[in-house]
Amino acid sequence: MKKLAIFGSGSGSNAENICNYFRGSDYVDIACIFTNNKEAFIVKRANKLKIPIIYISKKELLDFFGIYKTLKSYNIDYIILAGFLLKIPEKFINFYQKKIINIHPSLLPKYGGAGMYGRKIHQSVLENKENESGITIHFVNENYDEGEIIFQESCKIGCNEKIIDLEKKIGLLELKFFPKIIEKIILK
Ligand code: GRF
Repeated sequence: MKKLAIFGSGSGSNAENICNYFRGSDYVDIACIFTNNKEAFIVKRANKLKIPIIYISKKELLDFFGIYKTLKSYNIDYIILAGFLLKIPEKFINFYQKKIINIHPSLLPKYGGAGMYGRKIHQSVLENKENESGITIHFVNENYDEGEIIFQESCKIGCNEKIIDLEKKIGLLELKFFPKIIEKIILK
């Protein structure tokens, strides 16, 4: 059985979807969810799903060893970043080489990097009159959104498309593909 921890800072729609996808699996267990934001909706989702939710501060993340101890206590094999806004320190990357997977709502390397998150991405995509956008699932390295790409899926952008439409479209792609790609990586 492979054990996963999900890290999230926001709504948690991907976290919930991943938990539902693997519920009852003989091979993958979502052991816990970490958040740096006590107010985030991901906390409510974790409680509803009855998955332990663990709060971590930025300082604890940087200190690493406290969190590493917790991850060890859950026997975590993989860390899934689903809307986690803090940068993952290098110590984590060294301990979990090719074991930390992130999803990003653009076709990286476009529209990635520090400060590129949420609607800002879709807004920039539309301002630049791109005719497509999409999702990228990638391993995490020490630089924001620069780790090895595992999977991408694109979608066309219509003329007069609004930020909210693009956001919805991308959200659906994320829900459709993220759990399947995680499964593929983990069970390969
Ligand atoms: C997603 O768009 C994901 O690509 C990005 O952050 C967002 C998280 O949304 N990294 P949610 O918290 O899963 O609803």
